[in-house]
Amino acid sequence: MIVDIITIFPDFFDRFLETSIVKRAIEKGKLTVNIHDLRDYSLNKHKQIDDTPYGGGVGMLMTFPPFYECLQKIKTDNSKIIMLSPQGNVFDQTVATHYAQTESHLIILCGHYEGIDARILDYVDYEISIGDYVLTGGELASMIIVDAITRLLPGVINESSYLEDSHQNGLLKYPQYTKPENYKDHKVPEVLLSGHHENIRKWRETESLRTTYLKRPDLLEKKQLTKEELKILEK
Ligand code: ADE
Repeated sequence: MIVDIITIFPDFFDRFLETSIVKRAIEKGKLTVNIHDLRDYSLNKHKQIDDTPYGGGVGMLMTFPPFYECLQKIKTDNSKIIMLSPQGNVFDQTVATHYAQTESHLIILCGHYEGIDARILDYVDYEISIGDYVLTGGELASMIIVDAITRLLPGVINESSYLEDSHQNGLLKYPQYTKPENYKDHKVPEVLLSGHHENIRKWRETESLRTTYLKRPDLLEKKQLTKEELKILEK
């Protein structure tokens, strides 16, 4: 997967790209991230990339030409262009999985101020928001998207560690425990110590449903539950 990010804050990404699983994915050649400084594509001698909106109104807009020029340089027939904005479709695990499995080159445009001149929409494949709140710019959102996609790329982490993740199957994950077995009378559920794989699987399935029902009942409304799952919820 190749990701190109167009930003006015290229330094913002340094630590992100040198840390943890993203760093490992880059080292393993599973992920390439190229950061482009939008100001390098400004046609203005002061490297200005924003201006006041036609028709009046508050704030500044990012201008169209620098994005256009940068895209001309980096886009190919396989590229998909993502514009980050609070008006986009909300990013979730299904979208992350779709990108990880079907896309090979993403170009992410990080907006600022009041957004980008609307002519950019002629080039945008996906307008994406990371949630219903307004950030000062798209940089953090782009990192969230790259992070979520990276762990789903083949060969980055063990597949079994994300197949049971919260949201991967439309449910939240079951509770997990690690050593010690008993700490000041706070005990690990007996079944997890039993070594009985089928009982552990059933317990986890029930707990995953129960956790989702208690914490995020809205997820259950969106999901087609199996007969088995409905039976567990009725109990
Ligand atoms: N830019 C500003 N707010 C945003 C949001 N919620 N998601 C993505 N990009 C943004």
